[in-house]
Amino acid sequence: MFSLSNSVFTILRYIFFANSPHPTLYIPIRFIESRILDIAKQLSGLYTTPHMAFFSKRLGIDLGTANTLVFVPDKGIVLNEPSVVAVSEGGSRILAVGIEAKRMVGKTPDSIVAYKPMKDGVIADYKVTEAMLRYFINKALGRWNIWKPDVMISVPAGVTSTERRAVIEAALKAGAKNAYVVKEPILAAIGAGIPIHEPVGHMVIDVGGGTADVAVISLGGIVSSTSVKCAGNRIDYAITDYIKKTFNLAIGEKMAEDIKISIGSAIPLEEELVMTIKGRDFLTGLPRSAEIKTNEIVKAISKELREIIKAIKDVLQETPPELASDIIDKGIIMTGGSSLLRNFPELVFRRTGVKATLAKDALYCVANGTGVALEHLDTYKKSIIAKR
Ligand SMILES: Nc1ncnc2c1ncn2[C@@H]1O[C@H](COP(=O)(O)OP(=O)(O)OP(=O)(O)O)[C@@H](O)[C@H]1O
Ligand SMILES: [Mg+2]
Repeated sequence: MFSLSNSVFTILRYIFFANSPHPTLYIPIRFIESRILDIAKQLSGLYTTPHMAFFSKRLGIDLGTANTLVFVPDKGIVLNEPSVVAVSEGGSRILAVGIEAKRMVGKTPDSIVAYKPMKDGVIADYKVTEAMLRYFINKALGRWNIWKPDVMISVPAGVTSTERRAVIEAALKAGAKNAYVVKEPILAAIGAGIPIHEPVGHMVIDVGGGTADVAVISLGGIVSSTSVKCAGNRIDYAITDYIKKTFNLAIGEKMAEDIKISIGSAIPLEEELVMTIKGRDFLTGLPRSAEIKTNEIVKAISKELREIIKAIKDVLQETPPELASDIIDKGIIMTGGSSLLRNFPELVFRRTGVKATLAKDALYCVANGTGVALEHLDTYKKSIIAKR
């Protein structure tokens, strides 16, 4: 595209100045040329990728169970909001999406329902997901945008073809021109800065809200993987359950998550953290508070963490010996929000014997990965599992 513009400029310059290349005119003309080229670059946003149309915009979307992130090349992550939609009763009207809708969870009157349309990493409510995607796409592109975007969306490694098709259809209905689907561990690895195309084995674990994806990647593809429906949300339920049984106290979803983030840990602490919890007493029905310590949470969530560790061990056991030896050398990379649980990498190391490290910007790896993959579609085309 730009070599074409350059040729046009060269011809024009030749026509106008061939016989009188006056230096005082030549410099301003070069300046105007470069400004026009800049504007053309900004308009196209896409000048290096021959696959896509000249004027199309590109968006990378990490469509998560807990959070949806949108990446725009050259800008980075422009949107990071909870995957929640508030709908009027009967589902006829969308009232709020994202942050605004999450504030309503557990506090809605009967006439409003706060939906989480993604469950375990896949679409549970198609229509609401489509509306949510439309809102996020429009918000990311800005009010004045008129071009339909090409969209790259992450899906869990264990996604079925029907689930995958549902994501593509929802994106197209929500206003995308083309939709590309890539497995989450691949994007997480790209976003974590792992050179996935090398003939070297890397293990990536993405522990999000709905699923924990474990994968060994080599030569740009997944060699072995598993996906368990046990991650942040299940950890929150375990905390709610423990508090119910031990303190006779009913707490909300948000309180359970706050406890996990504020004082939770994957292994017991010598100096425990303490938190005051507030909820409703099961017996009296009245509001009450109590104190809870870290090591109680460690116990409460141990079953869930064991399930995630088992998934890691299963994948390690089915990894070819050559790649297993690479993984021992390189260690395990942990991404996703739930990897931020205190001492989680240490627990992985203790249970598997392989060093585990938290990736930089663990919450943003998948979204950043969509950005890198979009910018280098040719390089990563092998990793795209579906396109339309
Ligand atoms: N500091 C923290 N400690 C523990 N858990 C955390 C922390 N920060 C975020 N989380 C948890 O991370 C989860 C969200 O992570 P993430 O945004 O990666 O999930 P997601 O991509 O929406 O879900 P999925 O990939 O399963 O579809 C939530 O369950 C949240 O409670
Ligand atoms: Mg995720």
